[in-house]
Amino acid sequence: MSDTILQVNDIHKSFDGTGVLRGVSLEIREGEVVVIVGPSGCGKSTLLRCINGLETIDKGEIWLRDEKISGRAKDFHVVRQKIGMVFQSYDLFPHMKVMDNLLLGPTKALGKPRQEVEQEALQMLERVGLKEKAHVYPRTLSGGQKQRVALVRAMLMHPEILLLDEITAALDPEMVSEVLNVVIDLARGGMTMAIVTHEMRFAEAVADRVLFLEEGVVLEEGTPEAFFHAPATERAQRFLQSFTYASKRGKTEVQPKNTFGD
Ligand SMILES: Nc1ncnc2c1ncn2[C@@H]1O[C@H](COP(=O)(O)OP(=O)(O)OP(=O)(O)O)[C@@H](O)[C@H]1O
Ligand SMILES: [Mg+2]
Repeated sequence: MSDTILQVNDIHKSFDGTGVLRGVSLEIREGEVVVIVGPSGCGKSTLLRCINGLETIDKGEIWLRDEKISGRAKDFHVVRQKIGMVFQSYDLFPHMKVMDNLLLGPTKALGKPRQEVEQEALQMLERVGLKEKAHVYPRTLSGGQKQRVALVRAMLMHPEILLLDEITAALDPEMVSEVLNVVIDLARGGMTMAIVTHEMRFAEAVADRVLFLEEGVVLEEGTPEAFFHAPATERAQRFLQSFTYASKRGKTEVQPKNTFGD
């Protein structure tokens, strides 16, 4: 049996006649973390949204394990339960306390017993340093705390794969690392992920593989070492140079994934 979780085969997507994804293919295996980078507007969010069924594709196929998930709008909510997604903006329900936000999916959509999920939720909250926040409303949380709750909420569904789209982009700099370190922790725990980020130091630390997307095509694909230290294309070199200033300032403190257990 193959350990491929996600297979994207030559997908195309246009908006108003403009090709935004122009033949993108991607395979993600169990426990693998693939980071997708590229200039603004190159199609990163669209790619994740197509995988998650929030956009339909014009051509190509998307498979989750041995199930073809593209082209089936009707029962996509069932598929979506297996694909966790966290976005840039916090989408917790404001009228529900943190715990109720966390319980909703597993109890309503998956039909799990409330007590069992509550116990697991408390364990996960503790792991992200937020156990004492279980019974407060989201408005009393900082942006970084909200994003950590959003990650816990996604993980409680036990998805096959987690898609993260710039989850720290709206945060104040001092909150970025606390969220990224949770993601690194998930990666060390073996979570399969596709991550879109502009945090290059984090990308290098967390990625098993990097995809560089440019104008809707994969221009480069390789190990973080190869991509960040010896990019093959002139376009990727220029892209990375635009981040040199930010990385020199070293504002993001992240632990590398592969030092776990040292
Ligand atoms: N629903 C839509 N309708 C029309 N055009 C869209 C839609 N969604 C995205 N686009 C266009 O598709 C292109 C790719 O957008 P996308 O959001 O995927 O880029 P991105 O790589 O995520 O950029 P960023 O780094 O700024 O988030 C952009 O030109 C965008 O304007
Ligand atoms: Mg985007």
